[in-house]
Amino acid sequence: MSLQDARGEVLSTDQDAVLAIYEQSLDLFNSLRMDPVATLQPALEMDPDFISGHLLMAGLMLSAIDAQALPQARDSLAAAAHSRRQPTVREQSLLAALRPWAEGDMGRANRLLGRHLIDHPRDLFALQLTHMCDLVLGQPTLLRDRVGRALSHWSAADGGYGYVLGMHAFGLEECNEYDRAQAAGEAALERNPWDAWAVHALAHVHEMRGDAEAGIRWLDEGNTHWQQDNMLAVHNWWHLALQHLRMDDTASALAVYDRIIAPQPASMALDLVDGSALLWRLMLRGVDVGDRWQALAARWREWAQPGWSTFNDMHALLAQVGDGSAAGIAALRAAMDAVPVDVAPSPWWREASAAADAMQAFGEGRYQHCADRLLPLLHANLGYGGSQAQRGIFHLTACEAARRAGDEALHAALLGEAAARTSLRATAAA
Ligand SMILES: [Fe+2]
Repeated sequence: MSLQDARGEVLSTDQDAVLAIYEQSLDLFNSLRMDPVATLQPALEMDPDFISGHLLMAGLMLSAIDAQALPQARDSLAAAAHSRRQPTVREQSLLAALRPWAEGDMGRANRLLGRHLIDHPRDLFALQLTHMCDLVLGQPTLLRDRVGRALSHWSAADGGYGYVLGMHAFGLEECNEYDRAQAAGEAALERNPWDAWAVHALAHVHEMRGDAEAGIRWLDEGNTHWQQDNMLAVHNWWHLALQHLRMDDTASALAVYDRIIAPQPASMALDLVDGSALLWRLMLRGVDVGDRWQALAARWREWAQPGWSTFNDMHALLAQVGDGSAAGIAALRAAMDAVPVDVAPSPWWREASAAADAMQAFGEGRYQHCADRLLPLLHANLGYGGSQAQRGIFHLTACEAARRAGDEALHAALLGEAAARTSLRATAAA
């Protein structure tokens, strides 16, 4: 006998206790709380043939966006494939979608996950995975529209519906639909104040509207469930630091870095990205960040996995440039350039190389070269991955490079572009 999960999908287990653990682990994953892996493990010991359990474990490993987790993901997929049970249609489809990801091809995996979701729109786990892929691969319209495809298959009475709303909120924000994003995010949080995607979506809404006071109120005084026991906590602290920068309060931003973002032994790639992105923004503002680059660059050198994620590689490079490590820059750029185009993480790989050249030039004081190199990339850099707020670092760098190069026309144009964009957003929000 097989059991159904809370969303009506048939799972290859007949043990109620195993199903309960599976749902608990999945709920932790959906809200990005700790620790879905440790929670799930007993279910796999109780039922080693539980295919959906092994697939959940594989997805948890893959969602770390860390090449070091790939062998464990492959082991979990092998366990799913070698189960003595007959896989369900959903399990077969999900196994086929996750395999290329475990082999390093996230783009193909995401396309297969997209099709899987059309056939299984209530597969909340697959929706979370593809939402992460769309973010890493820089596909903002799919962040919104993949969730949109599934929405009509959910009702307000469904457990887990809030998580769907939270993802939709982030997708809407990335597509500049701030009012709808805010409404969806708030509705998600009414259902579940732990919903990290929804908290994060609202942080983005305030960032993109340029409303720093509202952003600080939201993150520092509003819902504070996000601040602990959450994989996105460091990143949401990073968002708070951005609001401090928008208020020209560099001391508070630096304090957030020192207290929360500075690399720890357990720091994940996402945390290191936030570290690079914040120190770089401080550096652009002329803030002396002391020896902070040194520790961050060293941590990146331990972790660096060139060719796995364009976005991670770019942020690893920022740390090497900030540290002034010629050897670190050369090693990383050589490794990035050695990635064959046909296995590169995105079709924009060569543009990423051009952007890397620009960022290196900034560190070497070749400001005009930096600005000229970045200008044609500013509106074509979705493929680097990440959010609009994260990709904003290229615009900020081009603007500051133009100022330091004495290219007043370009500096004024980029400042005007940013001001007009924010003022349009603020008008739309009013
Ligand atoms: Fe973000």
